[in-house]
Amino acid sequence: MKNSILPGLFVQPQKSALAGLTFALALAGVNGAAWAESADGRQVIELTAAQRAHVLGEMRALLSGTQAILAALAVDDMAAVAGQASALGMNMGHKAENHLHDVLPPAFMQLGMAIHLDFDRIAADAETRKDSKHSLQQLSTALNTCAVCHEAYQIQVLKHSKK
Ligand code: HEC
Repeated sequence: MKNSILPGLFVQPQKSALAGLTFALALAGVNGAAWAESADGRQVIELTAAQRAHVLGEMRALLSGTQAILAALAVDDMAAVAGQASALGMNMGHKAENHLHDVLPPAFMQLGMAIHLDFDRIAADAETRKDSKHSLQQLSTALNTCAVCHEAYQIQVLKHSKK
């Protein structure tokens, strides 16, 4: 049962619109869907080498930005939390994903947009509420989005793609 590691993620209560989306992803997994599957059951997204490098570059920025947010939270520097989180918001999303719109599956695009919206919300609340516990809770929800997408997709380079 290839989805056996997923239920924990899917049943976790979520406040965002992600619940419906993860359900859609679960269905896609059950139906085999339109995309090929990797050996571990994730859907394979085929990109050119350059497109893959672009997406992975954004991923590394998400990871290092998340680390910077945690470091700022640890010293209750809420202005830095807001700054770091807003750098990972929709601004980044539009730049990073728009020109890959035609090659990425719609559910992947939605999860991508969801994570950028999560970070915009973290930034806004860090500024207004200045409550690090609340921000940590939001960051945890955002990291759940990272995990849901990573459980669902893998990227491979298109055969014969040199660029
Ligand atoms: C919309 C889907 C999606 C979301 C949301 C997402 N990722 Fe990813 N991420 C991927 C995919 C797909 C890969 C490539 C996995 C593979 O090919 O095995 C990846 C790879 C990565 C990598 C490896 C980069 C490299 O150079 O190899 C890191 C680090 C990463 N993600 C961090 C994050 C973090 C942190 C978040 C959340 C803050 C996040 N990702 C959110 C889809 C996503």
